[in-house]
Amino acid sequence: MTKEDVAKLRAEIENSLAHAKSIEDLNSIKVKYLGKKGFLTNILKSLKELPLEERRELGSLLNQIKDELEKALKVKEREILLAEEDGITDLDLSLPGREPELGALHPLTIVISEICSLFERLGFEIAEGPEVESDFYNFTALNIPEWHPARDMQATFYLENGALLRTHTSPIQVRTMLRKKPPLRIIAPGKVYRCDADVRHSPMFHQIEGLMVDEKVRFSDLKGILTYFAQNIFGEDTKIRFRPSYFPFTEPSVEMDISCVICKGEGCRVCSQTGWLEILGAGMVHPEVFRAVGYDPSRWQGFAFGLGVERIAMIKYGIDDIRLFFDNHLYFLSSFK
Ligand code: PHE
Repeated sequence: MTKEDVAKLRAEIENSLAHAKSIEDLNSIKVKYLGKKGFLTNILKSLKELPLEERRELGSLLNQIKDELEKALKVKEREILLAEEDGITDLDLSLPGREPELGALHPLTIVISEICSLFERLGFEIAEGPEVESDFYNFTALNIPEWHPARDMQATFYLENGALLRTHTSPIQVRTMLRKKPPLRIIAPGKVYRCDADVRHSPMFHQIEGLMVDEKVRFSDLKGILTYFAQNIFGEDTKIRFRPSYFPFTEPSVEMDISCVICKGEGCRVCSQTGWLEILGAGMVHPEVFRAVGYDPSRWQGFAFGLGVERIAMIKYGIDDIRLFFDNHLYFLSSFK
């Protein structure tokens, strides 16, 4: 056997390995070359007859081929088995797994669900209403007549057909009372629209409306429930104060402030040195509103409040530009994971 013969043999083996498609193919290669009566086995045996010099040289070449063939058969076998299993031919089992990217809730979603579930625990039911409203629900039934200057307070977007985009969530009060008999307690989140835009105002923003009606609902109930709310959302040591205000649909009406979450009342840039932050409007339901929905104002009493969700979220998370909520930059959103 010459060196050329050995090279031929190597090429022949490589060729048949490359064409092997099944375990049967591999087995027949194995028997042909490595079996008891196999080709390589026989030549290796016959080397004994050769002179020492040739025996060494040919022997090491042939043993090398034998080793390579054994290894190649194993590798090929694994490949064929894996491919049979699931059709994958180049699977690297040592690769680390891919971590799925988890999303995060939007900060406004977090605040809305936190506030709503707090009120649900107090027996309030979630209520909703349409964003396109009629003048009746948004204004008239809330004791805001045609000529009333309060209509200008809330720069309204009107549609061509005379409908409007609700300027507050208060129409949900009216819709609920027309649908249900008292007593009732609702908490109503939603989008509202006003023609206004700067770092603190967005033409679309979110409010949460609260309404409680029963035979003996007093201002002290409003105070107790809103104190509980403020201390739950902003911390146990939060103080509240009421300032007299005006809304056509409540009487008396108030603005509620909380002690500044940053300086705790000392006075800082966030609270404009006052120590207080305004967070919501509230009051006792006006008898005219009860009349508009057919409730007897001599029997039923109630309180209502409305708060701005963006404002609460800005205070809670220290955000100073309302537009961040709606730009949807990932670096902002992913900080709420
Ligand atoms: N609707 C009022 C506003 O948008 C807030 C409010 C709601 C005030 C309920 C009193 C009672 O400004």
